[in-house]
Amino acid sequence: MKATVSIIRQVVIITVIVAIFFKSYLSAEESQFRKKFMENHKANSLQAQSILIKKNKDIIPAEINSLITEAMLPEKSYQERVYLLDIAGAIATMNIHWNNGDEELLKKVEKLQKEEVEKEKKRTEGFEEIKKMEKVPGNFVMTAHKQEMAAKGLSPVIYPHWIHRAFFRCKVCHEDIFIMKRGANDLSQAKIQEGKQCGMCHNGKISFNASAEENCGRCHIVGKPESRPLMDLSYYNGNKFKEIASRVGTEWNPENLSGGKLPVDKLGFINWVELDKVKAFNPRTNLNGGPDAEGVRETNILFETSIAFLKNVLFSHKIHSTWVKCSMCHPDTFKPELGANRVKMIEMKDGKSCGRCHGKVAFTHSDCLRCHNFTKENTPEGALINHAPTAAPAQ
Ligand code: HEC
Ligand code: HEC
Ligand code: HEC
Ligand code: HEC
Ligand code: HEC
Ligand code: HEC
Repeated sequence: MKATVSIIRQVVIITVIVAIFFKSYLSAEESQFRKKFMENHKANSLQAQSILIKKNKDIIPAEINSLITEAMLPEKSYQERVYLLDIAGAIATMNIHWNNGDEELLKKVEKLQKEEVEKEKKRTEGFEEIKKMEKVPGNFVMTAHKQEMAAKGLSPVIYPHWIHRAFFRCKVCHEDIFIMKRGANDLSQAKIQEGKQCGMCHNGKISFNASAEENCGRCHIVGKPESRPLMDLSYYNGNKFKEIASRVGTEWNPENLSGGKLPVDKLGFINWVELDKVKAFNPRTNLNGGPDAEGVRETNILFETSIAFLKNVLFSHKIHSTWVKCSMCHPDTFKPELGANRVKMIEMKDGKSCGRCHGKVAFTHSDCLRCHNFTKENTPEGALINHAPTAAPAQ
């Protein structure tokens, strides 16, 4: 009696699932048996099902195994896999009930179902965790050696651009220390402990030592409660930053900040342009203590837009060449020639053009008005002009 009730419950649950997915996942190479089984499910006909199961006793193990094989094909999505395993499970359950069939088949299906659910949970958990950690522009989770780290009981690493930017301009790292592309640097603990990569600074002199046991968890921190301050910016503390700055050989002046707080943009992330304006800091431009090799270019370029409702964009060489080296833009991303480049928004979304930095480490390309903020009548004095293409002549 109990078994029958449980079968009916299974049938009902599966009918609902089938009703939802029936159309999208019906596969072409289905057997006659499977087709009939699905029809009975749809019709919610337990009696028809019992006849079908009894009649096909001999082929049922092969049917279940072929469903399992199909479910586990690498190209199947999680939903497809779960759906096929659910059908296999239902057939196996009915086969036990009506044919006194092999219980091992059901156990096999159930084991796979459990594994799939666990895998999916892990996959999306990791994904959610990484999305959360990377919400702050330039917070990069590093998982290339995930297995080796896990084997040593260590979490993946986070590299928070924002903490580093407070003390170092981009040109300190890009590209003398790191190529400006995620995953392009073959980062490893061995190289770090030899004083390369992160170890250029995390050596116990400029910053905490990456070879010291007590510091492993400061970088291998993803997923731990201690990582919160890196995400909600509460890592920031005026006195702490002053201390770090003096150790690093630069300055941090919280007294120049309104209310002692970090200035933020409309998305709540740090406004780095404002920090320079109020002279709250003066990040280093290199690690050897000499002057900035390339210097800063002072020209401004006004990108005129031909779109009526849109404001023009002023590109400041000064802001940009203070942070980054000329070679980060010239000649690969932009030809160093007035009017030689047409900027398209679509390229920014793909991480090209201005989107090489904006949307990754610099403020996002979705903050339209932060770039499009010069009315067409308002041409800043001395700006060089990148003219909008003239509209195509009317037919
Ligand atoms: C202290 C060193 C350091 C500083 C300073 C620094 N970066 Fe990075 N940057 C890195 C590291 C590390 C990576 C990741 C490299 C990897 O994954 O191999 C990276 C990667 C990047 C990437 C690649 C993103 C992608 O999706 O491929 C961009 C863009 C970038 N940085 C821009 C900047 C900008 C702009 C600045 C200054 C505002 C800056 N960085 C300052 C260390 C630094
Ligand atoms: C140019 C020097 C420099 C390089 C290169 C550098 N860091 Fe840092 N890092 C610092 C400084 C300075 C701080 C501020 C903390 C301090 O020194 O007290 C810091 C802070 C951090 C923090 C904040 C955690 C804490 O507890 O303070 C993390 C995480 C971190 N670095 C990871 C990395 C990783 C990962 C790399 C390499 C991919 C790297 N850093 C490369 C200088 C550097
Ligand atoms: C300054 C940040 C930092 C600190 C501190 C740090 N690591 Fe790492 N570690 C990294 C980075 C970056 C990687 C490469 C991440 C990746 O796989 O994408 C890494 C990778 C590893 C790996 C993976 C395998 C390999 O050889 O690269 C192990 C194991 C490891 N670290 C152990 C440690 C131990 C043990 C400590 C403490 C003694 C430590 N780490 C401290 C940044 C750090
Ligand atoms: C990092 C700076 C920056 C940001 C942020 C930005 N733009 Fe642009 N945009 C430009 C530049 C530079 C041009 C080139 C001027 C031109 O041709 O109109 C441009 C061009 C355009 C164009 C005309 C060319 C094309 O690609 O179709 C449109 C439309 C446009 N932007 C809309 C937007 C909207 C909407 C947003 C916000 C979602 C935005 N922009 C955010 C810099 C930016
Ligand atoms: C963040 C990217 C970026 C950086 C960094 C950068 N530039 Fe440019 N540069 C541009 C863009 C964009 C233009 C506009 C080209 C156009 O009008 O099509 C430009 C134009 C130029 C031009 C022609 C217009 C002018 O200003 O006379 C020269 C020359 C030039 N850059 C030199 C440099 C030098 C030298 C440096 C380093 C000190 C530098 N740039 C840094 C993006 C950059
Ligand atoms: C190599 C990296 C890089 C590239 C490429 C780049 N930017 Fe920037 N940009 C920055 C950084 C860094 C800042 C400082 C603000 C920040 O980090 O959010 C900045 C700031 C700005 C600002 C100042 C905003 C303000 O509040 O005053 C504007 C406008 C701007 N960028 C437009 C552009 C345009 C337009 C392009 C493409 C023609 C471009 N940027 C390409 C890195 C870059």
